[in-house]
Amino acid sequence: MSIASDVFTLKNSNGVEVTFIASGGQITSIKVPNAAGEFADIVIGYDTVEQALAGDGYFGALCGRYANRIVGGQFSVDGQDYQLDINNGPNHLHGGIDGFNSRIWEVESVASDNSSKAYKLSLLSPDGDQKYPGELRIEVIYRLTEDNEFFIEYIAETTKTTIINLTSHAYFNLKGAGTGTIENHKLQINASGFTPISGEIETVTGEIIPVAGSAMDFSSSKAIGTTCNSNDEQVKLVDGIDHNFVIDDYDGSLRLAAVLSDPVSGRNLKVFTDQPGIQIYTGSHFDSSETGKLGAPIIKWAGLAMETQIFPDSPNKEHFPNAVLRPGETYKHTCVYQFGY
Ligand code: GAL
Repeated sequence: MSIASDVFTLKNSNGVEVTFIASGGQITSIKVPNAAGEFADIVIGYDTVEQALAGDGYFGALCGRYANRIVGGQFSVDGQDYQLDINNGPNHLHGGIDGFNSRIWEVESVASDNSSKAYKLSLLSPDGDQKYPGELRIEVIYRLTEDNEFFIEYIAETTKTTIINLTSHAYFNLKGAGTGTIENHKLQINASGFTPISGEIETVTGEIIPVAGSAMDFSSSKAIGTTCNSNDEQVKLVDGIDHNFVIDDYDGSLRLAAVLSDPVSGRNLKVFTDQPGIQIYTGSHFDSSETGKLGAPIIKWAGLAMETQIFPDSPNKEHFPNAVLRPGETYKHTCVYQFGY
């Protein structure tokens, strides 16, 4: 039986190291080199496990059952209406008050070969958990390869028709956690559309609009600060970026979704996924009230979350990708973070 504070580390022969805890499967550090062989911890968070357990429950965590927002916490499947907890403004966020990010995941080492090392994280979510229907069995594999790729592979099965959208919530700062904001980081996203939000409902309207000509245009690599500091209406609503991008040519196969790079350290990060969307969040709510790594305050825009996912509020938007999981079906999701320089 795992306990919340259990710490696990994956390390490859290049010295890349991914550390996580059983609570929420929270990734607490990722150490990667740059071209000069200098290592930095590139996920924001805390210096100790104790702080991580007491701090922001979403840092590096596995989120579910439904990561992101569901308008009014309401949805229906097979003619049955469900009302989930409202835990974020008028909406349901990241699976509710006791989401998967605060559960103790059962962690076991799985057979590794010369090219990768892995852990399996398992969770049993009972029927009615957070008012979602069906008993859900979830397995997540964290795998680190010799090519400096960190794979997150999810599978889940249910006993009753339910909805599902799992993701991982690390905030990256390629210069190193605690060294400033990500305004100078460059971002490129393979998305020609995004799902705009409304200030009134505090999440997506249901539209999919082109990024072209707007602050959300990351089709070519661009400094994130250019967008965060712009007067764009969508940016102003959330004081940065907190938007779902619609990945081009989605067909369920693994494809490159985004590339983040830091001109100062020279490090970069490629995100691959088989999911239709990616939530880009600049950590706009951090207000320096918490002390993070290197003893530095966790400041606004301290890191960038890139959460591969189905779209927000998909269960209520017929034209959004399917988030319904039925008995006998298997939910599958792969996200790969590849570290380079
Ligand atoms: C993100 C979400 C943000 C914020 C954050 C958790 O996924 O898009 O709005 O809620 O999670 O603090």
